[in-house]
Amino acid sequence: MIITIDGPASSGKTTVAKLLAKEINFSVLESGKFYRLFTYLLLTLKKEKWQEILENKEELESFWKSVVEDIKVEVNGEGTFLFFQNKKLEDELRSEEVEEYVSIVAKVPVVREIVNQMLRKIVQGKRIIAEGRDMGSVVFPDAKLKIFLTADEKIRAERRAKQEQRDPDKIIKNIQKRDLIDSTRKIAPLKIPSDAIIIDTSYLLPKEVTEKILEVYKTLQNERDKK
Ligand code: CDP
Repeated sequence: MIITIDGPASSGKTTVAKLLAKEINFSVLESGKFYRLFTYLLLTLKKEKWQEILENKEELESFWKSVVEDIKVEVNGEGTFLFFQNKKLEDELRSEEVEEYVSIVAKVPVVREIVNQMLRKIVQGKRIIAEGRDMGSVVFPDAKLKIFLTADEKIRAERRAKQEQRDPDKIIKNIQKRDLIDSTRKIAPLKIPSDAIIIDTSYLLPKEVTEKILEVYKTLQNERDKK
């Protein structure tokens, strides 16, 4: 069974997905980490050539072929963990450079095809909460429950600034820039799936958001049991 949670940067997707996963014993698929991984590998391994490669479908595919064997993925109730050459990647995926370029990489159609293929394979046979930008709209359109989280831009920036010890002005600019690219790109832009439940998290605690989703989930389960 798949539950999707989509929304803009720092709307609370990851935190809520993890809290919910604990309650109902699901695993959390953090789709943004795959775009971050792609960006990180491209930038580190291809250095100043990365932009050129990004513009060329064949080169991008052959780049991915050259790294994919060395990538390992672990998905569980705590989240999604990515390894490259047996090294767990954490801070690398949240570096300033990755934050700067991830949305530019994520708007390239071949990159999205590659990531989506991986995601669909990973979820097979699992109970998954998939969070990202296009989980309910594109990648898992048949998901049983779709959530869309929103929050005021200022509040989202404040949340991110609290999480990371970085210049708040830079964080706000980065969030604005990523939101703009993510919601205006041609393929799979950030948008609310027509069958999603929208929750504004601006003035709610993660626990309160989780409880709201849990309520809907339980209603769905009851309806299913009655059938
Ligand atoms: O945690 P935060 O919301 O800031 O970012 P993330 O979920 O790790 O996603 C990083 C970036 O990956 C986003 O800004 C998007 O450009 C891209 N992304 C996407 O295009 N589609 C997804 N399903 C998830 C992320």
